[in-house]
Amino acid sequence: MSLAEEVLRLKDARNAVLLAHNYQRPEVQDVADFVGDSLYLSRKAMESDRAVIVFAGVRFMAETAKILNPARTVLLPDLKAGCGLSDSITAEQLRAWKAEHPGAAVVAYINTSAEVKAESDYCCTSSNAIKVVEQIPPDQEILFLPDMFLGDYVRRRTGRSMHLWVGDCPVHAKLRPEVLAHARADHPGAPLIAHPECGCASQVLPYVDRVLSTDGMLRFAEETRAPEVLVATEVGILHRMHKLNPTTRFSPIDSGAICPYMKEISLEDVRDSLAELRYEIDVPQDVADRARRALERMVAA
Ligand code: 13P
Ligand code: SF4
Repeated sequence: MSLAEEVLRLKDARNAVLLAHNYQRPEVQDVADFVGDSLYLSRKAMESDRAVIVFAGVRFMAETAKILNPARTVLLPDLKAGCGLSDSITAEQLRAWKAEHPGAAVVAYINTSAEVKAESDYCCTSSNAIKVVEQIPPDQEILFLPDMFLGDYVRRRTGRSMHLWVGDCPVHAKLRPEVLAHARADHPGAPLIAHPECGCASQVLPYVDRVLSTDGMLRFAEETRAPEVLVATEVGILHRMHKLNPTTRFSPIDSGAICPYMKEISLEDVRDSLAELRYEIDVPQDVADRARRALERMVAA
């Protein structure tokens, strides 16, 4: 039996659903029940009636699944699958920041720990950050964390003045305006799509046709008739782009844009996770209860 067949058999035996993020290894994406961006996968986790949710993604995604659907067993196949961006703010740092801005609304990107979400009023993902910020009363101060590039982009798009936490994603921060400008010059006529975590997302706008979440990029990929598209995000997304649209060439802006956290999870890890029910992700009840309101606002937006 192949490894992929073993995973499929164990998935049935455990009554499990396998969720995979768009940056996962191709062989993991290919055996998943659902592949998508953070918002889509959070909704799928919340709706799941399976006994077990295996999250082929990173830790904050598995924690989100547990908070939104606490009755299920949530597994992360490798505990090293963290997130450099989520590590850039702790709950203690957030409490100190809030103390400097009493009454401010706190908007946390989903790429944060459960403890940080528990200190927040709203959560958002890259696909609904603008919608979430637009819900906040116009006279209320806003603290946006932890990605300053996404925050700056949302600030420009909504016209809201927001305080930004100075954090970034180590993979996307390197995709700066000059890198995008070079790619554009080397591939004249090819549309360029970029994730809002890219370095200076608002300053790359002159070089970019669309700023999109990973699922937004996939929809663009499926619909485009352009012979070539330039892609500014983690390269794991190219697997589904090729599958959705085999006639367009999808060229990464930087073929070294690889998230080491996402790549921690191998197909073997997924098999072992299902076979041994490891590694179970739990969130202390008081933290989960405080984080749930912000997450429910995110999935509803
Ligand atoms: P998406 O929600 O757009 O998939 O982004 C998640 C992420 O971690 C990007 O680095
Ligand atoms: Fe975190 Fe960046 Fe990896 Fe996304 S790509 S999981 S933000 S380190």
